[in-house]
Amino acid sequence: MSDNPADTARTFDDASVTFDLLTDTVWGPAGTALAFQLGLGPGDTVLDVCCGAGASAFPAAAAVGPSGRVHGVDLSADLLEKARLIAENRALQNVDFVCADATAWEAPSDIPADGYDALAISYGVFFLPDMHRAFARLVGLVRHGGRVGVTVWRRGALEEYGQVVFDVASRFDPELAERGSLRARTPLHEIDTPHTLEAWLAGAGTHSVDVRVLSNRLPATDDLCWNLVTGTGYRAALNGLDDEQIAAVRRGIADEVTARGIHTIDFSTLVGTATVRRPPTAASGHLRQSRA
Ligand SMILES: C[S@@+](CC[C@H](N)C(=O)[O-])C[C@H]1O[C@@H](n2cnc3c(N)ncnc32)[C@H](O)[C@@H]1O
Repeated sequence: MSDNPADTARTFDDASVTFDLLTDTVWGPAGTALAFQLGLGPGDTVLDVCCGAGASAFPAAAAVGPSGRVHGVDLSADLLEKARLIAENRALQNVDFVCADATAWEAPSDIPADGYDALAISYGVFFLPDMHRAFARLVGLVRHGGRVGVTVWRRGALEEYGQVVFDVASRFDPELAERGSLRARTPLHEIDTPHTLEAWLAGAGTHSVDVRVLSNRLPATDDLCWNLVTGTGYRAALNGLDDEQIAAVRRGIADEVTARGIHTIDFSTLVGTATVRRPPTAASGHLRQSRA
């Protein structure tokens, strides 16, 4: 993934056409697990960063109820449009979706002075440029005693299939081979085991860290394999290819999946949550400053 927000926005705008074909089986279970593990309750205010089409924002909105508030922030205007449509269809009044770069997001003034009650980032934190700094800044928007949580792919998840996508797409785009795979291009590999994610969350100024594994293995059908390319960050591998080449990539992937004997795709996910430890005065000071 590129560090340029415009490239990320374009990749996920393109992916938005088929993104929600993975909601029931992939994004949704993780988003629901994250909202649950955060322990959200009525009246809570939640910042959902990299919210996409709302897979974790909607379970959060249900948990916090009409007296609570969820702010979803994402770079992809097209995914946010899908989220807004879902909110409208469900008559939800407690969730707002904002198109912005989360690394520069400033909390609006209708959030309590001490900060949000919770921060949720599902399958997004490893896309943020300078992940450690960006996460620390977002944690700073949460009040002392508030909760933060992320979901990330567990080590091993998507690796076998991701390698197929990378190998096949590299035949058509030699530059891709130089840029490297998703795990090579993002800091995901730094936080993709229970132990490393736990240490990372604790290092961001939290306590009571809880990392759980959400096991999720799905049959590698042709549809799932292709939706996974067109509806996710893998979409970037198709940039610059014409229709014929894209069709050849799809055939190539199907052939490789058969040749490598891949019957199942592993979507296993770590769900990590923690409680923010910060003197209340410092927390309010930070927010007052960032809103000034
Ligand atoms: C794999 S999707 C996950 C979406 C959603 N959380 C879900 O689980 O369905 C990653 C999302 O991160 C968003 N994203 C990446 N970098 C971002 C940034 N700097 N600011 C805001 N959103 C970003 C992308 O636009 C994309 O929607």
